[in-house]
Amino acid sequence: MATSDLRNVLRYVPQFRDKVFVIAIDSQVVADDNFGNVLLDVAALHSLSIHLVIVHGASAQIREWSEQLKEAVTDADGTGPCDAATLRIARLAAAQVGNRILDGLFGTHELRGAVPNAIKAKPAGVLKGVDHLYRGRVDQVDVDYLRLLLQHDIVPVIPPIGTDGSGQPYRLNSDEVAEEVARELQAVKLIFLTTKPGVEVEGRVLRQISSRDLEELLDTRRDQFAPAVVSKVEAALRSCKGGVRRAHIIDGRVDECLLSEVYSNEGIGTMVHANEYQFIRRAQPRDVSFIWALVKPAMEKEELLRRTRASIQKQITDYYVFETDGAILGCVALHVFSEEKKAEMASLHVSPLHENRGIGTRLARYVEELARKQGVESLYCLSTQAFSFFQQKLGFEEVSPDFLTTDRRAKYFQSARNSKVLAKSLLKPPAPIPAG
Ligand SMILES: CC(C)(COP(=O)(O)OP(=O)(O)OC[C@H]1O[C@@H](n2cnc3c(N)ncnc32)[C@H](O)[C@@H]1OP(=O)(O)O)[C@@H](O)C(=O)NCCC(=O)NCCS
Repeated sequence: MATSDLRNVLRYVPQFRDKVFVIAIDSQVVADDNFGNVLLDVAALHSLSIHLVIVHGASAQIREWSEQLKEAVTDADGTGPCDAATLRIARLAAAQVGNRILDGLFGTHELRGAVPNAIKAKPAGVLKGVDHLYRGRVDQVDVDYLRLLLQHDIVPVIPPIGTDGSGQPYRLNSDEVAEEVARELQAVKLIFLTTKPGVEVEGRVLRQISSRDLEELLDTRRDQFAPAVVSKVEAALRSCKGGVRRAHIIDGRVDECLLSEVYSNEGIGTMVHANEYQFIRRAQPRDVSFIWALVKPAMEKEELLRRTRASIQKQITDYYVFETDGAILGCVALHVFSEEKKAEMASLHVSPLHENRGIGTRLARYVEELARKQGVESLYCLSTQAFSFFQQKLGFEEVSPDFLTTDRRAKYFQSARNSKVLAKSLLKPPAPIPAG
């Protein structure tokens, strides 16, 4: 990994510190050769002070036990009727999977884990005339118990089995358990580890999609979704509606699947994001540290002109930030030179993890509009590496450094960065903003 990549990753470490991730692991992923690597990722996330809760399935092991014991099961997935024999096998299989996870956590990584009886169940009942017997639904999640374990650095490992108030166990669907646990704990992420590359539609994996768009897609093109993924998509959508910010559906058989999904720009599977509250606002003095953390690596890569933290602090009222759910993902500054009717757009920067989502364009258009309102006739910017972005996406044209305001021209030659100077006339009406 290049130093710059590592820096990018490390910058996002504080964002997830002390946050809860729920990791829902399919039974086939536990049985796969890559499972040891999944636990390596779990240990790495845990070492970054992320509170992890594991919820696991057991259908593959239920099928194995059914064959070994030569006892038929009424349903292996926790979605159909569950008779007494199936429940017995499901408990056996769930205990086996739970032990495998606990052994792996402790044996390889000395992580403490526990299988808590934190899920109160209720019978699924008679559905469309069919008695589902010992198949249950989640009635309540014992949030206090789970929080207590997390506070003591213990990873809860939750099976697809719950118990009702009289002590009767029920077979549960693990996707539903994971979703309920994530919602109740207000997890920031619910990550499904499956044996599919993500949500595929017409043979293409959807990389990032809002819960609103995914819901619409499921309503209109349900037949194109793999049946195994539908239950996860529905659980992901419910969790997003219930306050979980991101749900991910990824292939748990890929090495470093969890780390790649959480910390790489592209991710490896599908990320569903809640319909979040996004806006651009003028920066406040309290934002200086965030802006500084955002732009510093870009200055080191010479993408942005070097500034000191003190200079940002001094000019903070010129800065605007793009905020999503309380996190600053991008910034820009607008320095207006009223006498010359010119303004500089500076420090346009978007966090590398959130590039290519239209944030840079929105920030730039926002300050362009502000400049227009203030009677600015020409907007310019300096760029060493993103000049084609300004030309192709924002309608700027390259001009000579002589175009700069007097004060700025002196600094330009002083810095010797040899940036390209780009300018745009604001006397023409603004170009229409593309949808999305
Ligand atoms: C340049 C930057 C602000 C773009 O922000 P962004 O939010 O990723 O951009 P958007 O999502 O609005 O636009 C994405 C489009 O711009 C293109 N683009 C992004 N960065 C680009 C660059 N450096 N050069 C050319 N094109 C670029 C993308 O390929 C994409 O094109 P498409 O729409 O045809 O697929 C961001 O990459 C960044 O912060 N770069 C480092 C700092 C920098 O160079 N700032 C400019 C100097 S002031």
